[in-house]
Amino acid sequence: MTFLASQGRYKNMTYNRVGKSGLKLPALSLGLWHNFGSVDNFENAKSLIFRAFDAGITHFDLANNYGPQPGSAEENFGRIVQQHLNHYRDEIIISTKAGYPMWNGPYGDGGSRKYLIASLDQSLKRMGLDYVDIFYSHRFDPDTPLEETMMALDQAVRSGKALYAGISNYGPKQTQKAIEILTDFGTPLLIHQHKYSMFVRELENGTQEVLAKNGIGCIAFSPLAQGMLTDKYFDGIPENSRAAKVTGYLQTDSITKDLLEKAKKLSDLAGYRNQSLAQMALAWVLNNPVVDSVLIGASNVRQIEENIEMLKNVNFSDDEKATIKQILE
Ligand SMILES: NC(=O)c1ccc[n+]([C@@H]2O[C@H](COP(=O)([O-])OP(=O)(O)OC[C@H]3O[C@@H](n4cnc5c(N)ncnc54)[C@H](OP(=O)(O)O)[C@@H]3O)[C@@H](O)[C@H]2O)c1
Repeated sequence: MTFLASQGRYKNMTYNRVGKSGLKLPALSLGLWHNFGSVDNFENAKSLIFRAFDAGITHFDLANNYGPQPGSAEENFGRIVQQHLNHYRDEIIISTKAGYPMWNGPYGDGGSRKYLIASLDQSLKRMGLDYVDIFYSHRFDPDTPLEETMMALDQAVRSGKALYAGISNYGPKQTQKAIEILTDFGTPLLIHQHKYSMFVRELENGTQEVLAKNGIGCIAFSPLAQGMLTDKYFDGIPENSRAAKVTGYLQTDSITKDLLEKAKKLSDLAGYRNQSLAQMALAWVLNNPVVDSVLIGASNVRQIEENIEMLKNVNFSDDEKATIKQILE
C-alpha cells in the first residue's frame, strides 16, 4: 500500500547545505546498519522509515554489507521503497557504500574499481533502484592506488548510477588526496562520513580542517556512541539493547565504568538543559560547524521521536561547553 506522508513533514526539520555543494541534507539522517536486516522485524523497520520520513528525515544511509545477512538491509529497504515510497523518490536521498568484505574471492573487498563498480550494481539491484544519491568508498584501502578507488567513484557518477561521491573512514591526508584526485577528474567529493561523538573525537585530529578548507561536507555517524550516550546502560545491559544482541556490534566490555560515569554526569547536565542525554549528545555533534548532518540509528519509533526533539535546542552556553569539556577530560 502506498504510504502518504504527513503534509507538514518539512516544517520542523532543518536542512543544511553539504559543504559548498548544491545538496542539502536533513540535520538528522537515519542509518540502516542495525535493525533492518533479515534477522530483524520487517514491520518495525517499515515503521522506522515511515516515522523518519514523516518527520522530515529525507536521508537514508545504507551499505552493501548492512544486515545481517549482508545485503539484507538493502533488500528490505528496497522492498519498502518499491511498495510504499516510490512516488517520493525525488524527495529522498539514498546512500550506499562498498569497501568492507562482501563476497568471497579477491574482488569482494577493498577499494578496487572491480569491487566498487560490481558492488554498486548489486546494491542497485537489491534495492530495485536506477541510481543512488551518494555512493561511498567505505574505507581507505592501502593496497589499492587511491586514483583507482576515486576513478571508480567518478565512473559511478558519470554512468548515472550515483549522483554524488563520498568517502568514509579516511584519515586527513587520504582525504586531502582524494579531494584533489576527484577534483582533477571533474567529479567533486561531496561528503565525508566520519565517526563522531562526545566519546569519539578523531574527526578533530586534522580531518575537520581539511573538510572546512575544501568546502566538503561531513555526516557524523554513531553520534550516540551506539547507545552509550543515552541513559539505557546506567543500570546494566537491558534486554533487546544493541549490547545485549548477538548481532549487535556494540560489545558489553566497551561499556566501561569510566564511560558510564561520564555519561551519567553528562545526563545531569542535559537535565538542566531540559534535554535527555541522547538529545544533548546529538545537539553537541551538530554544533561542530563542519557537521552538516548527524547520522543516527534507531531500534524503535520512540527513539526517532525523542532524537528529533533535540533540534529545539542545539546551542550551548560557554558554561555548558566548559562543563562538557571538563567531564570528558
Ligand atoms: N561509515 C561507516 O563506517 C559507518 C559505521 C557505523 C555506522 N555508520 C552509519 O551510521 C548509522 C548510525 O550509527 P549507529 O547506529 O551506531 O548510531 P548511534 O545513533 O550512535 O546509535 C544508535 C543506537 O542507539 C540507541 N538509541 C538511539 N536513540 C536512542 C534514544 N533516544 N534512547 C536510547 N537509545 C537510543 C539504539 O540502540 P538499541 O538497539 O540499543 O536501542 C540505536 O540503534 C548507521 O546506521 C550507519 O548508517 C557508518
